[in-house]
Formats: sequence, C-alpha cells, structure tokens
Amino acid sequence: MNHQMAVEGMKSAWDPSRYFATQRGRKVMRTVNAFKVTILCGFITILVLRGTMQAGSGLPDSSKFIDEDAERFQGLTRTSRMLKEAEDETPVDSALVGKFVEEEKWDPSKPYTLGPKISNWDEQRRVWNERNPMQNVTRNGKPKILLVSGSQPGPCGNPMGDFYHLKYLKNRIDYARLHGMEFFYNVATFQKEMNSFWAKLPLLRNLMLNHPETEWIWWMDSDAIFTDMTFEVDLERYVGKNIVIHGFNDLLFEQHKWLGLNTGSFLLRNCQWSLDLLDAWAPYGPSGEVRMNAGKMLTAKLVDRPAFEADDQSALVYLMLFGDPQWRGKLFLEWAFYLHGYWKFVVYNYENVMAKHKPGFGDDRWPFVTHFVGCKPCQYAVTGEVQECFKQMERAFNFADNQVLGKYGYAHRSLATWKTVKVREDTNDPLGLYKAHKNPQDTPTLKSEDLSAQFLKQKEAAGLEKVLPKTTS
Ligand SMILES: *[C@@H]1O[C@H](CO)[C@@H](O)[C@H](O)[C@H]1NC(C)=O
Repeated sequence: MNHQMAVEGMKSAWDPSRYFATQRGRKVMRTVNAFKVTILCGFITILVLRGTMQAGSGLPDSSKFIDEDAERFQGLTRTSRMLKEAEDETPVDSALVGKFVEEEKWDPSKPYTLGPKISNWDEQRRVWNERNPMQNVTRNGKPKILLVSGSQPGPCGNPMGDFYHLKYLKNRIDYARLHGMEFFYNVATFQKEMNSFWAKLPLLRNLMLNHPETEWIWWMDSDAIFTDMTFEVDLERYVGKNIVIHGFNDLLFEQHKWLGLNTGSFLLRNCQWSLDLLDAWAPYGPSGEVRMNAGKMLTAKLVDRPAFEADDQSALVYLMLFGDPQWRGKLFLEWAFYLHGYWKFVVYNYENVMAKHKPGFGDDRWPFVTHFVGCKPCQYAVTGEVQECFKQMERAFNFADNQVLGKYGYAHRSLATWKTVKVREDTNDPLGLYKAHKNPQDTPTLKSEDLSAQFLKQKEAAGLEKVLPKTTS
C-alpha cells in the first residue's frame, strides 16, 4: 500500500465530517466551543489581574536587573518571560517538599564558590574506579569522553532559535553516536548567579563529580556544530595536559589578545586540577556587580577586549596569562584542526571543500567544528546580521547532515535547503554481499606533516578575529 492509499484508508475508517453531521456530534461540538471561550476568558482575567497586582505592589523590583540581563543575553521576549514566571509560580509537588535542600545563598562579602572544597578528587576517583572495574573504558578500551552542551531553559525570543537548537542537538547526537561518546544536554539552571555564558562552570563541576568514570568532559556551545562527522580527536596528543582549547600561542601569550583562545568547544580532564581551575575561574562570574567589575578589569588587562561584563572566555585568558603558572602548565592550545572554527572563515568555503576533499581532516580542508560566534539566534529582533546567521546555520547543518544522510542514500539538494534528494538506487542487495564494489568511505586521517602548513593558515585567519567582539557563548 502506498502512502496516499494509506491516508485514504484512514479517512474512510473515521471521517470527522460525517460524525459532526449527526445530532449528537453537533451537540458535542457546541459544548467544546463554549468550553474554549470559557478558557480564553479565564486566561484574559488572569493576565489583567497579574498586571494590576504588579503595577500596584509598589515593591522595589529586585529581579529587574536579572530580567534585563536575561533578555539581553538570552533574547527572551516578554511572552516567554511570562511563561517563565507562570512556571515559577507552579505549586511545588508535595511529594518533593520533604526532599528540598535549602539553596545556598551566596554572601557577596565572601569569594564565590561552586561548592564545598574538594582536595583529593584524584584519589576519590581512583578508589571509585577500582571498586567499579571497567566502567571507565569504552567498548574499544579507550578512556571515556562525555560530550556536554546546553541551551536556555525557556523558549527563544525567536522560534527560529529553537529550531536551530533542535537541529544542532541532532548534529551532536549523530556525532556522539558515530564516535561512541556519551552525551549530556542541559536545559536546567544549576546556580542562579551563574547564568548566560557562565552556566557551564557549575555544570562541568557537577558532571565531573557525578561521572567519575569519565576521563574527559567536552564542552560545546549551543551555537557550535560538528561539520566533519568523520574526524576524531586524538587523545594521545594530550597526555599530561588537562584542558584542550583552540587558540594560538603568540596571540595569547605574546599579544595578550582576548581572542587568543576560544571557549566555544574545549576538553577538560576529570581531575583535581580541573576542579581547582573551576574554583579559580568562577569568582569572576556571579551576575551583578561582581561580574560588571570583573569585566572592567578584564577589558583593562586584555588586548582588544570591548567593554562589557566579564565573560568566561576572557576570565580564562586572564588566568592563563596572569594567574597561577600551574594553569598554563597544563593547557594544550590546539591549532592543528578546527576544535573551534569561526563561522565567517569557514562557511563560505563549504562548496569548495566538498569539490576538493573528503571529510576526515578537521582543518581547512574540511573544518571539524563551525562556531556561530556573535550570532544571536534567540534574539527577538531579526536584523540583517541575524538573517545571515540563520542562512549560514542552515548551510552548516546541511553540510554536516549530508555526511550522515549519505549512509541512508540521501543528500540535501543544496546546502541552502532542508529538502533532500535520493542519491542511491535501492537494491535487493543493500549490504553489497553479492556484488563486489569499492568502499566509498575511504577517508584520510590527520598526519603530523600536514599540521605545520595548516598552522600558518589558521593563524592568519585568527588574526582577523579581533574585529569581532564575542557577545554570546
Ligand atoms: C580505569 O580505572 C582503573 C582503576 O583506577 C585504572 O587502572 C585504569 O587506568 C583506568 N582506565 C582508564 C582508561 O582511564
């Protein structure tokens, strides 16, 4: 039975127009309509009452700053804010009340902390892994990597933002599946003070402590996408290092550029050093005055940094340059491939890349990650810049998705469209067991000779990044 026939079949089995033609059906319909009107009236009443109560309360609005902040950085519209408030006022599940733990209130006269100080994590992890043998290795006997990403708890100011969050989430699921990695996607707030780009810090700590079996946590911003589905990071390169970030030695350590590294995609080893780093990193982040003042200090200290509140990337650059030498001692600045690739330098090249190369390089020949730094897909106001971002985010997704769909015999008509075409004939020998044919997935691997040439090219590209203030993460 083809699709059309199936639909026809369903229609004849239960035809609503026939049902409503009956006496009983019309009565039901009238009741439903009356009910709809009642609900609508109720909703309007609640809105009016709420508005009056807020206007009349006369209390200083302590949440104003946080709300403005959220709007600016997460692009929440008034509607979504209302949804959020409605959600906050939902009565607490009575079954949970007994389990509530009083949230630790931060006293701003004391340094901010992410949680109780832990000083023997390496030992705790070792003991746990000895008691739970083989939990810390993948099926291939390799150390485990947990891929982590997340987006805001509430709806985007622009539904297109949520549309791309979904597509980019699919991309991560595909990459994790193809490479045997575990994946965690977060949409919850773990610490109120650590919102917007700082939300990753409490999350990373929590994941490390609750996944002692995982050796690496790989953070990826919600606006970054894997564009080389074949390329795999070679962990052997990072023996003795605890954080792996895309960046350049001279831009960072000689020129003190705030864009000397990029925290959009990085690997953090699950160890004591990393917990200590998070502890040293977090005090720049609490929203409000602390973050504002830290921002002023970072703008003064780092080259080319625009004036705005402290962001996680600048604070990390600062720690690497001026903090305890133990931080830079365990830093691996990765420039051999695009662990982060600034979108404006890679997206316009995709067709060229497809004409000349195959996936598996991760560098200029086939960029590993494309990161939409500076795009604001959640923002309510759709400017020309945002339009261009959406256009290129779609292209990046389709560029990556072609590498996934190929296995199933499909491809996007062009990078610009989500429409697909069939690129392979169906056969009665889908596994190719009876007919000899060559392996189409003949992919190259990254060779160390290739690295130095790529280094120069990428560095040139990164030099241009200074023109672009990073405002989202
Ligand atoms: C797993 O844990 C055991 C016990 O601590 C350790 O000997 C081994 O090296 C660990 N393996 C990996 C891949 O981390």
